[in-house]
Amino acid sequence: MGGGSADVAAGARVRVILLGPPGAGKGTQAGRLAAERGIARISTGDMLRDAIAHGTPLGQQAAPIMEKGGLVPDELLIGLIEERIHRPDCAQGYILDGFPRTLRQAEGLESMEGGDGTTSFVIFDVEVPRPELLRRLSGRRWCPTCQATYHVESNPPTRPGLCDWDSTPLIQREDDKESAVAQRLAEYDKRTAPLIEYYSGRSRFHRIDGNRSVDVVFGELNGLLGVCR
Ligand code: AP5
Repeated sequence: MGGGSADVAAGARVRVILLGPPGAGKGTQAGRLAAERGIARISTGDMLRDAIAHGTPLGQQAAPIMEKGGLVPDELLIGLIEERIHRPDCAQGYILDGFPRTLRQAEGLESMEGGDGTTSFVIFDVEVPRPELLRRLSGRRWCPTCQATYHVESNPPTRPGLCDWDSTPLIQREDDKESAVAQRLAEYDKRTAPLIEYYSGRSRFHRIDGNRSVDVVFGELNGLLGVCR
């Protein structure tokens, strides 16, 4: 589904954008790619959930919006990312999981990277049919301590209901409940899907069939990033 290799030169600063609807597997793949490449994974969903858990002003503003499946205001997210991508762990590059999600966020990202529309992001649009998205979201379980993600059928923990890493009881995310999922998918269609057209003319834009096993999808993404091990 994708084009040729992303041809990321050895030693180059790798900047990856993972696009895709809720449940496409962005978080799963971002975690593996970041570990493989030794670069930072930046998940805006995880950052916001962390802010909620710590009761910060950002968390207090985001909580009621996220619970209903809406999008948190652009200015908050742009400020959050601008600070985050300038931290030392992003010196070798980063993978953005869940950002940008609106045209305004995409433009904000270009300008914070000093770009003029040609900044060399590798962009993966991970596509999965809707019935499979619903299956994944309804079966997802999540560790509130380390944010590891599981699925009751396709990626169960070793011990039922407990995180493999820290034994915390797994929970269902509030926004994985039915009404919030419907709202998240509607927000995706209206505000995030237009980013596909925004990025699709770029030479490093790749459409990825995400309706395959985690390993197969990872193999393709990793290969496109020019890592052949
Ligand atoms: P966020 O946490 O980013 O949620 P999302 O984009 O809706 O994505 P998900 O986490 O639901 O899915 P995913 O694609 O990461 O899939 P995953 O790998 O977990 O955002 C949450 C909320 O925060 C938003 O709704 C919004 O309110 C707010 N927010 C965040 N960023 C924002 C922004 N930039 N602007 C404004 N608001 C923002 O996989 C899902 C399940 O499928 C798992 O159970 C997994 O095990 C399983 N799975 C994964 N891959 C496969 C596979 N290949 N085969 C079978 N199962 C698989």
